[in-house]
Amino acid sequence: MSDPEPVRRIGLDNVIVADTELSEIDGEKPELLYRGVDAQELAEKSSYEETAYLLWNGELPTRDELDEFRAELDERRGLSRGVAEVVEHAPEDAVPMDVLRSAVSTTQVYGEVGETPRENALSVLAKAPTALATFGRARRGEETLEPRDDLDTAANFLYMLNGEEPDERHAEILDTALLLHADHGLNASTFTSRVIASTESDVISALTGAIGALKGPLHGGANQDVMEMLLDIDESDKDVSSYVADMLENGERVPGFGHRVYKEFDPRAEVLKEIAEEVSETTEGPDWYGMLEEVEAYLREEKRIHEKGISPNVDLYSGTVYYSLGIPIDFFVPMFAVGRSAGWTAQVQEQYDNNRLVRPRAEYVGERGVEYTPIDER
Ligand SMILES: CC(C)(COP(=O)(O)OP(=O)(O)OC[C@H]1O[C@@H](n2cnc3c(N)ncnc32)[C@H](O)[C@@H]1OP(=O)(O)O)[C@@H](O)C(=O)NCCC(=O)NCCS
Repeated sequence: MSDPEPVRRIGLDNVIVADTELSEIDGEKPELLYRGVDAQELAEKSSYEETAYLLWNGELPTRDELDEFRAELDERRGLSRGVAEVVEHAPEDAVPMDVLRSAVSTTQVYGEVGETPRENALSVLAKAPTALATFGRARRGEETLEPRDDLDTAANFLYMLNGEEPDERHAEILDTALLLHADHGLNASTFTSRVIASTESDVISALTGAIGALKGPLHGGANQDVMEMLLDIDESDKDVSSYVADMLENGERVPGFGHRVYKEFDPRAEVLKEIAEEVSETTEGPDWYGMLEEVEAYLREEKRIHEKGISPNVDLYSGTVYYSLGIPIDFFVPMFAVGRSAGWTAQVQEQYDNNRLVRPRAEYVGERGVEYTPIDER
């Protein structure tokens, strides 16, 4: 039987290449569902670890199941000496995403990831935040702190980064931000993880590739850009409206606005907007939330919002929220990676469960029949 005619779709836009039961993005409603449960409801009532369990197992855990899952993570949060050395000895100006990617990859070199895909996945979920916090301290010349088994993923991260037990509400806020980043359909990094898994390679390799894909500015990165824009506005002598007007005049895009799927609003942004407002009321310094409101109002006046479908996205508010929690700006994209690890690991498992090697084709558009010229004659 001959192969069907190849389909040409550069960038794979709108091509379905897998079935998934993990997350559903409905741009019309708009809503984001994890295993059929509304992510906004989970953000209000649940936790990141409960959501990771849901993604992995298809149902929400009982209290005992969640305790057991937490214990499995607690056992694995510490780094082996080999991995700790990679992180602690990274140059202080190393890019945190590079450090995170190297740390995740190195866990396998030191055999601390177990045998099964599930053990590999637990290891990433547990150790990625530890590695990031360890780097945060090391580059400030501070000693590494061991994770504590009375704190969950978010609280442990803030504790290991800042050296003191976090304010309970701050830990809850970070937990919600991680939950809202847990999974989001077949985006570039998730697709990368599934392509790697489709070769029957291991979870650690798949996650290392996914972190590499998320590092690109077209994927992660807008939350950092938002915060840098606000700091720049604060330092400049322009007001918010004229700053944004200049950006648009120069053909620049305003970070934190627009989404390929959510045209009316991004449900994750709705939750983070409320949190951004809350933290702005309780933290000192410039009113970042107020500035974001001004940016949004200006775009609304300019009819960019709705007419062009560029309403606030998740990155608009996550940056100011992280900033208010004392998380360094260059950790914003790695925080996205930490949250998304729940989804990446679930997606890799789903790929293993119903695998077909991903093997698209490229159309050759180069020259043909080019004669070989010996090296000394070129
Ligand atoms: C996310 C993004 C890539 C989606 O792009 P998209 O769906 O391909 O949207 P398009 O490129 O078709 O843009 C539609 C129109 O809105 C404009 N637009 C899109 N996002 C814009 C933004 N953030 N600021 C200003 N104008 C924007 C485009 O210039 C285009 O205008 P035109 O019709 O006059 O050419 C885009 O909105 C963007 O770059 N946003 C900023 C970065 C960001 O926040 N990324 C995080 C996403 S979660």
